[in-house]
Amino acid sequence: MPLKQFMTLPRHILEGEKLHPEATGELSAILLQLGLAAKVISLEVNKAGLVEILGFTGKTNVHGEDVKKLDMFAHEMLIRAMDHGGHFCVMASEEDENIIHLPPHQKIGKYVLLFDPLDGSSNIEANVSIGTIFSIYKRISKGDGPGVIEDCLQPGFKQVAAGYIVYGPSTIFVYSAGHGVYGFTLDPAFGEFLLSHDNIKIPARGRIYSINEGNYNSWSRGLKKYIKHLQASKFEGKPYQLRYVGSMVADIHRTLLYGGTFMYPGDKRNPKGKLRLVYECNPLSFIIEAAGGVAIDGERRILELTPSSLHERTPIFAGSKDDIELLKKFLDEEK
Ligand code: AHG
Ligand code: MN
Ligand code: MN
Ligand code: MN
Repeated sequence: MPLKQFMTLPRHILEGEKLHPEATGELSAILLQLGLAAKVISLEVNKAGLVEILGFTGKTNVHGEDVKKLDMFAHEMLIRAMDHGGHFCVMASEEDENIIHLPPHQKIGKYVLLFDPLDGSSNIEANVSIGTIFSIYKRISKGDGPGVIEDCLQPGFKQVAAGYIVYGPSTIFVYSAGHGVYGFTLDPAFGEFLLSHDNIKIPARGRIYSINEGNYNSWSRGLKKYIKHLQASKFEGKPYQLRYVGSMVADIHRTLLYGGTFMYPGDKRNPKGKLRLVYECNPLSFIIEAAGGVAIDGERRILELTPSSLHERTPIFAGSKDDIELLKKFLDEEK
């Protein structure tokens, strides 16, 4: 796709601000700062094999996951990049059990930042695409003191912006502030994100389904029937394909561009599945919906779920409108 009149991320955000006055200059400043953090993390990711940043920290996080050095690098980088400038009243991260308060001397702002600093970290050593996910809300707690946990537990439809960075063959920054979805590819020659995906719209149907088939035996009957139906069907004369990276950002990015479905269901062992609502499913569902797709937990719209805790999980079925509608029919039939 030709690079539209050399549209950089900063220019796009500032022009967007003129188009949508409700997106205050502050939101622009936040997105620009996230772009800077993305460049720094991308630099570290792209040389991970060469410096002492692979492997484990020896710590485990609240999910019982072994924390990778790159998880912690991205976590600390985002906090350092975002904790000044007076934009936020509180933050929260996959890698911190509790909410993150700003340093005492910092000005308190009216926004909330939730993030998964490094998504897909089991893929780092295999040099497979990984990502960063962010979600932004306005504070709802009163007063101008530090934010509280309620500010971080709002339903996803209240996000003012959300997006992700995918560190793959190229580094792509994708965001939406509610008016379209835009992708910017980092040109490492001069360290600028250039508009490469203008106003992304997800196809109404796709030929790819994305799910960890290793969990097949613990799926619901309806889901098993749906997957068997796909395997026996054709789309535009060709059989369906299974593609599963194991990094949610990479699987969602491909689903956004090619269409189809990404699914991480609950099962008998983990009824709520594996993926976290607040900093994985909400921001990525916001993007999928802004591009014309659908994201549900099997019953309800993901963005209408009200989180009850920071790290709670939810099943997720997201992607092309027609595909998710057909999946829902299979799930409903076998309830
Ligand atoms: P994270 O690396 O942030 O903990 O997230 C990993 C998640 C998500 O990226 C991916 O979709 C999922 O784990 C893969 O889980 P399985 O290996 O169970 O399929
Ligand atoms: Mn993790
Ligand atoms: Mn993740
Ligand atoms: Mn993570």
